[in-house]
Order: sequence, then C-alpha cells, then structure tokens
Amino acid sequence: MCGIVAYLGHREACPIILKGLRRLEYRGYDSAGVALLNGSLSVYKKKGKVAELENFLATKDTHAKVGMGHTRWATHGEPNDVNAHPHYSTSERIAIIHNGIIENYAALKTHLEKQGHVFHSDTDTEVFVNLIEEIQQQNDCTLEEAVRLALHEVIGAYAIVVLSKDAPDQLIAARKGSPLVIGIGEGEFFVASDATPIIEYTNEVVYVNDYELAVIRDGQLAIRSREDVVQTPYIQRLELELDSIEKGGYEHFMLKEIFEQPRSILDSMRGRLELGGSHLNMAGFRAYEQKFVNAQRIIIVACGTSWHAGLVAEYLIEDLARVPVEVEYASEFRYRNPVISERDIVIAISQSGETADTLAALELAKSKGATIFGICNVVGSSIARATDAGAYTHAGPEIGVASTKAFTAQVTVLTLLAMCIGQRRGTLSDTKLRELVAELHNIPSKVEKALKLDAEIREIAETFKDVPNFLYLGRGYNFPVALEGALKLKEISYIHAEGYPAAEMKHGPIALIDENMPVVVIATKDSSYEKVVSNIQEVKARKGRIIAVVTEGDTTIPAMAEYVIEVPHTSEILMPLVSVVPLQLLSYHIAVLRGCNVDQPRNLAKSVTVE
Ligand code: F6R
Repeated sequence: MCGIVAYLGHREACPIILKGLRRLEYRGYDSAGVALLNGSLSVYKKKGKVAELENFLATKDTHAKVGMGHTRWATHGEPNDVNAHPHYSTSERIAIIHNGIIENYAALKTHLEKQGHVFHSDTDTEVFVNLIEEIQQQNDCTLEEAVRLALHEVIGAYAIVVLSKDAPDQLIAARKGSPLVIGIGEGEFFVASDATPIIEYTNEVVYVNDYELAVIRDGQLAIRSREDVVQTPYIQRLELELDSIEKGGYEHFMLKEIFEQPRSILDSMRGRLELGGSHLNMAGFRAYEQKFVNAQRIIIVACGTSWHAGLVAEYLIEDLARVPVEVEYASEFRYRNPVISERDIVIAISQSGETADTLAALELAKSKGATIFGICNVVGSSIARATDAGAYTHAGPEIGVASTKAFTAQVTVLTLLAMCIGQRRGTLSDTKLRELVAELHNIPSKVEKALKLDAEIREIAETFKDVPNFLYLGRGYNFPVALEGALKLKEISYIHAEGYPAAEMKHGPIALIDENMPVVVIATKDSSYEKVVSNIQEVKARKGRIIAVVTEGDTTIPAMAEYVIEVPHTSEILMPLVSVVPLQLLSYHIAVLRGCNVDQPRNLAKSVTVE
C-alpha cells in the first residue's frame, strides 16, 4: 500500500515522478503528492488520483532535478489534501514520503509536541519527519545521521525517502518491511516501491534490505546498515519488459490480464515439465525434496485470492501426494499460537510477495523451525527473499487490483508442486502423472476457448448488473472457485456476493434464495456433478435465478438454468484453471456496466503491506 518514487539526476524530476506514480497507482490512489528540490523545497499534494495532482501541478513551476512523489492508501487519517504525502517537518526544511505504518507514533508525537513540533495532519508519517528534525537539532548532526538514529526510535514498517532544503543534491532512503528498489542509470538514480517506474530508464537495480539506509549524493549510492556498517550494494539486472506494464490496447489492465492467461499459465509451466514425459523439473522443490517426502503436514498461509489458490492446493496435494494440508488466513495464523513442528512445511502464497500478514506468518513459522516454501509472482519481493526455497509463478506484472492471472499461475505452480510431491512419495502413478502432464499442456488452449465466451458473458452481465446480491456455489475443486468468483464480483462491482460449498447452502444461505437472487453454480462434469445437479434443483425449487458454468455438451443443466456458460472439458483437478475464467469475465463486465473503476476499486490497494 502506498507507492513511493524519487529521482536525482540530470533530467527534469517532476515528469519522471508523475509517470512513476501512475505506474504505482495500483498500490493506493486516495491522494498523491510530490516534493521538488530546487533551491527551495516545495511540496504539492492533492486528494484523489494522480491525475488530480497533475492538473494541480499544471500551473506550478515544477523545475527541479531532484524530487520525490507518493500515492497513498490511507492508514492513519482520512484521505484529504493535508494527510497526503509528502510531509514537511515543522521548520519545512525536511520532507518525507513513507509507505508503511509507525506503530509507536502516538508516544513519539506526544514527546515531539513537548519539544515544540507542530503537526498539521493525522498521519504517523508527519511524526517520523519531525523526529528526524528533532534528532538533527539535538545532535547537531548530518541529515543522514539523523535519519539513521530515527530508525532506531520508530517501531513499525517503512520505506521512506527524505529530502532536505539544506542538502540540495542528496536523497536518503531507508526500509524496514516495505519494499524499496533503487535504479542506477548514467549519472542518475531512481527510487521506487517496485521496479515499474524504473524500467524504462535502466535495468540495473539494487533491492534495499530491511534496516538499510541508502544515501545518494555526488553521483554515488552508498548503503549502510542501521548500525552504520557499510554494505556493498548488490546490483541486479531486471528482466521486466516495458510492454508488460502497459495496457496494450485493452480498456483496462484487468481485462488485459484475464486475456493474458493462456500465455501466463504456459509461462508458469515453462521448463518445469516436458510434453509426453513424466519428468518434472522444479528447482525449488528439488532443494527441499527430502523434506517434502518426509513432511508430516503442509500448512499454507496466504490472503485473499492467494488464499483461494491455497484452498485449491489443499485438494491437489491431499489427492495427489497424500500429505495432510491446512490452509490458513495468514492474518489469523500469525496471532494464534499455532502448533508447528520441524517436520511441517509452510507454503506462503503471494502475488506481490509483500503482503504484511503473509510475511509475518512465515516469519513466525520459521521461528518455530518449519521449512518455508514461497510461491510469489514478484521477483525479488520480500516474501520471496524470506523463504528457504520456492517457485516463482512467472505470470508477469499484475497491475489490475483484482487478481486474475496471478490466481491461475499460482494454481498451475501448486499443481506442479503437488505432482512433484506425489511422484517422489510414490502416491502418484506414472500413468496418472503422464495423463496430467498431457492435460496441463492443453490448458492454455482450453482457457483460450473459455475466453471466447466474452461476448456471451457480457450479455449475462447486462441482465444482472443492477442486482444487490449474488450467491456462488461449487463443490470439490470448484468450491474455491466459487469463493474466488464472489470475491472478484464484490471487490470491483461493490455488489454483495457470497461463495459457498454447494452442499452447505441448505445450512443457512438457502434462506436468501428467492426469485431475485442470482446463483452462479459451477457445475462442471466431475465426481460431484450429480450432487451439484441436486443443489441446482434446490435453488430452482426456490425460484433462484441460476447461472451455471457447465462442461461443453451438458444436456441436463440447460433445462434447469436461466443461463448456461459452457467451458471445455478437462480433468477434474485442473478444472479451476478453466472454470474461474468466465467468473472473472462476469465480474469484469458487471463492474464496467455499473461504471466502476475496475482497475482501482474503492478502498483497495494491490499490495497490502500493512496488517
Ligand atoms: C483480490 C486480491 C487480494 C489479494 C490479497 C493477497 O483480487 O487481489 O485479495 O489476493 O491481498 O495479495 P498477495 O497475493 O499479493 O499476497
């Protein structure tokens, strides 16, 4: 949450910063601001999207070669101009941008007020910048030293950039718990929450580690630990393509990402299995092969859509590898006192690799001796770096706030992992494995076929766009898909939606069903098909409006449902990869028809770096 970007070099800073903020807007978009250093230190900020800030800046003198910007997802203080970042210190000589949360801000604020500091906003960030100023005044030290000492005082998470009027050619950045990457160009430096604002200028980057302080001055980057020990920056080459972070002709990132799935699913399998064979090649799995073979239990921790992918994995791993699996909300797991042993493997699933709860859950499991396996999309992200081993999903950047291609890539990787464990434990026969490998190769073309339903689904969306509620039902492998369909709809269209295991319906939700209630039932041909048909009858008997996702050629359900969406047949265990696609499209079209901002739904942010 919150995106930060900064520049120091020979070009005009403001256009670079604004472009960077637009790229980072997925991380939060309730207000935005910039600070520009050019003899004076000027801060401009506005409630609303980056576009509002751009309009506001149109009449200002923004000439500067050093500057920083912020796009906010509010934690402390409502979204308004005053709470927007950057924040000045009391003297207005220092400014800060911050992504994270300072937990002890109240105590620090009381102390600073006593020292005469004046606060204008409700944010924890304004406390941070005044703390830096106070330390600098008390110790008569450099800004760098004051920032370093301040890092010892604050409790919480941060990625910050600090500029001072008294140090016109210097930029200071630091991190703990929130992401921070520095791009190194020819005589210029870029700082950002992720690499997307940097990639068009340079592909050489340094990922700053927790408790590190970066100082950019005199054309040099110097990194020190919070304890003031010099660190050698590890320069990495980015693989990111610029095309992958642009809309490429689609109206929204979400639609582009839905349509990218045949390719992203293929990319997540690439090099990991060979057509016609039974040889699986997952480097991350190989590193912990023996631990997986001997695991007494696998615990999956994740949030949101990634948690739904974890639920699919529970079915997969128990089916194919016969290891007991528990799927936990990371936010609950981290605050329970979970029983974890050294023979447990904890799999953390995260698209962004930055979700604070998932990171904390895996740190907890690690401290109790479990082996940690990460499944992340963003290369070099905090979770990826905190795990013992893992597998990247290789879905490419996901910009739309609602997760789509990340989900199918996660499920693909988890399928491969379940196959690897099953093969090594001897619970998955060679014949079955070969069948699965062959069918996995067919999945991209089946997803392609499901995407052809787009126009048909748009018509269904027209019918239901104004309803206030939706119910989603599925069983077995399609149960997590029902949850995911409901989440997609509610987050981007603001229609209330619930996902349920179809058979649970009669234990409560059935009371909701009447002639106004649309019920999406995922009823593909699988081992629970007959039972789902009975559940559909139960809905129909109460006049519910049935929208059924069925396997091509189904002749039973069309007689019962108001709408039928036919997806290609595939193996039961791979069906979530196909059956989720029409649900993504349905929510997308309903949201667009309702005039919602699908890529940036209200109150949400792409990467939830606060708990
Ligand atoms: C839903 C969505 C969220 C994320 C969740 C976890 O569309 O995007 O529910 O899935 O915030 O995020 P990651 O996977 O980045 O840990």
